[in-house]
Amino acid sequence: MNEIAIICVDDDPAILSSLEMEIKTIFGNTYLIELAENGDDAIALCIELLAESIEIALVISDYIMPEMAGDELLTRIHELSPKTAKIMLTGQANIEAVSRAIHYANLYRYISKPWQVDDLKLTVKEALNSYLREQKIVEHTYNLVETNKALIKLNQDKNEFLGIAAHDLKNPLSAIKGWAEMIIEEYDDMPKSEIIEVSQLILNSSRQMFELIRNLLDVNAIESGEIHAKLSRVDILPTVQEVVSCYNERAKTKSIILQLHQKNNQYNAFVDKGTVHQILDNLISNAVKYSPYGKHIDIRMCESDKMVCCEIKDEGQGLSVFDQKQLFNKFTRLTPKPTGNEHSNGLGLFIVKKLVEAMHGKVWCKSELGNGTSFFVEFPLFNSQIM
Ligand SMILES: Nc1ncnc2c1ncn2[C@@H]1O[C@H](COP(=O)(O)OP(=O)(O)OP(=O)(O)O)[C@@H](O)[C@H]1O
Ligand SMILES: [Mg+2]
Repeated sequence: MNEIAIICVDDDPAILSSLEMEIKTIFGNTYLIELAENGDDAIALCIELLAESIEIALVISDYIMPEMAGDELLTRIHELSPKTAKIMLTGQANIEAVSRAIHYANLYRYISKPWQVDDLKLTVKEALNSYLREQKIVEHTYNLVETNKALIKLNQDKNEFLGIAAHDLKNPLSAIKGWAEMIIEEYDDMPKSEIIEVSQLILNSSRQMFELIRNLLDVNAIESGEIHAKLSRVDILPTVQEVVSCYNERAKTKSIILQLHQKNNQYNAFVDKGTVHQILDNLISNAVKYSPYGKHIDIRMCESDKMVCCEIKDEGQGLSVFDQKQLFNKFTRLTPKPTGNEHSNGLGLFIVKKLVEAMHGKVWCKSELGNGTSFFVEFPLFNSQIM
């Protein structure tokens, strides 16, 4: 918390020190008490304190002072620090000066000299409380404004999320509708093989929708902080082999050669097996999806003293520096497009990054436009696990 100061101004040193004493009996050493014997010194003091980020909670000023009267001083202090509470001490009731100070300096109260000690103490206490209350309100208002901004952003994100999801579901859904109508209307004239072909299209589109919904649910779980990775010792080699063999068929249809290279027989990591499968599935599916026909994809396993690493290297068109910066964001469909009519929602890598991080791993990409892409994913080695 910043330091808080109270300034007393009076051209009579005896009054100044008795003011200081009264204030000390109320607040002890809680606040910094500063004294000034004239208006110019008081203003210089204010400027100095404010420059040091010390809040000026209260200024108590005499009215009758040579060169600068109390109302003028408080008006000038008001310009420097509008929230400061101000009290004016008046020798004799000077209504005009008081009303000027109320009007121009937002005067909190005036106290007639000689003051009653109880009156002075009460007024000073109330002025300070009023200042602190106002500061609290300012702080709460600031927090509310910030929370509101964050909520507006969240709402915009959700709307964007819904908009994209609805858009991406609409296409396969209307295709399904069209093919189903076609079968119903033309059933009698359609050869069996054509019905099977159209049904296959319906099946593909439903899979596409299913996959999108699964991804959306994953994103939702991630954003609600519900990733539950159960970490244990897992040899990830069988999982890598499983995903590779799963994509071999798909790669063959694009004349792509998918090869796994490994030196060890085991790669023991401290991970969640299912989550590793999901991560590799995303990365290897991307390599196949964005590689042109007839290329190679190499998957290399390696191990350092702390991490197990897997590189997925393709010979696709590569990514520009600009694209690389956006790669792991939500709904990012970048310059490379699927080469075999596969669908793309732009969610896979966002999910991958969050899942990898949930297991204390790291994922990154190295690519050069025109020269393929390598994705690297690493997981903590079982021995160096973070407990
Ligand atoms: N190996 C790659 N080579 C070239 N571009 C890639 C590669 N992997 C990803 N990209 C680019 O990054 C974008 C984001 O990839 P991401 O996996 O997040 O989404 P997606 O593949 O479009 O859809 P999905 O949500 O089905 O995974 C892709 O649209 C593509 O442009
Ligand atoms: Mg993908």
